[in-house]
Amino acid sequence: MSGKSIVSVLTGKLVSRPPFWFMRQAGRYLPEYRRVRAKAKGFLDLCFRPELAVEVSLQPVRRFATDAAILFSDILVVPYALGQRVRFLENSGPALEPIRRLRDVAALDLSLLAGRLAPVYETVRQLKRALPANVALIGFAGAPWTVALYMVEGKSPANGAAARGWAWKKPADFGRLVELLVEATVGHLVRQAECGADAVQLFDTWAGLLSETEFRTWVIRPTAEVVRRFKSRFPGVPVIGFPKGAGPLYLDYVTGTGVDGVGIDSLVPLDWAANVLQPKCAVQGNLDNQVLRAGGPALDAEVRRILDGLARGRFVFNLGHGILPDTPPKHVAHVAELVRAWPDSRG
Ligand code: CP3
Repeated sequence: MSGKSIVSVLTGKLVSRPPFWFMRQAGRYLPEYRRVRAKAKGFLDLCFRPELAVEVSLQPVRRFATDAAILFSDILVVPYALGQRVRFLENSGPALEPIRRLRDVAALDLSLLAGRLAPVYETVRQLKRALPANVALIGFAGAPWTVALYMVEGKSPANGAAARGWAWKKPADFGRLVELLVEATVGHLVRQAECGADAVQLFDTWAGLLSETEFRTWVIRPTAEVVRRFKSRFPGVPVIGFPKGAGPLYLDYVTGTGVDGVGIDSLVPLDWAANVLQPKCAVQGNLDNQVLRAGGPALDAEVRRILDGLARGRFVFNLGHGILPDTPPKHVAHVAELVRAWPDSRG
């Protein structure tokens, strides 16, 4: 295979075996990550030190020969760069100073973004130089809805009551925050593409919290705007959307946003994805992260079921959500073997 097979799949070309990478492929389940992580003062420091961020981005590529590296950063660097107070507490996840009123939105400053995120763009540049020509570099951002949710809730959400309550009661005010995030997200993705990202992914981890009406308003509409504006600058850089938990609305998401590829979670039936989504765009997914952690015959069976269900069409093998911290790296290596061997790995 010549060139970057992930880019080929996302732009509608056929490839001989499905390319693969894993969401959260760089992380605490890798001992080499934990060693680098120990050198940084905190998680954000790791994200903002190019020499360390480049190293942890490359670790899974070396260990598993994935077809892509994903930039090591976080979706919450954007609220940080807009001036919100963001901290990552050891073992308890993100903590943000919550935004609850229009006045809080007005205090955010888009003009800070490019400067505060300069180290991230330097990481992208260095990664681009370090990667072999056939390995794609994936840039990313959180989608406006998921980032707004963290900004309003101030932490990983339970049911999103604060953000959703605000959005139902004062849609124009919550809409200002989302509009600001559309702007910030486009700028962030454009700069990653300028520095060499071959594809970008929009993580909408909490899309599945929403009702149909909210999904159309806060997921499809702003994502369509991000995709349209990004593509006007970089028509050749494919966009993967990952609206986790979208269920049957995955179809309207694909047709309504114009993404080149869609990440599906582990609950999406493969025959539905093959018949309904794959004719419209490339599909990426959807191995369950718990079966990856569990390993054994169940893992083999699931990997084969997914490959047999989707790999004859436009397909990027991945997970339905990120690798869990207590996953044995050898399970990941085994999955990489099975994907590389397909179709000969059929049971
Ligand atoms: O390898 C990669 O996937 C690239 C790096 C990456 C991270 N986070 C590193 C990270 C990416 C693409 C993300 C995206 C991200 N961050 C999402 C969307 C995808 C998803 O998993 O749902 C979300 C919701 C976040 C926000 C976030 N960052 C949370 C909730 C947490 C705490 C939970 C946890 O696992 O600790 C983080 C921290 C974080 N981001 C870690 C890593 C490797 C762990 C930090 C550590 O080393 O202590």
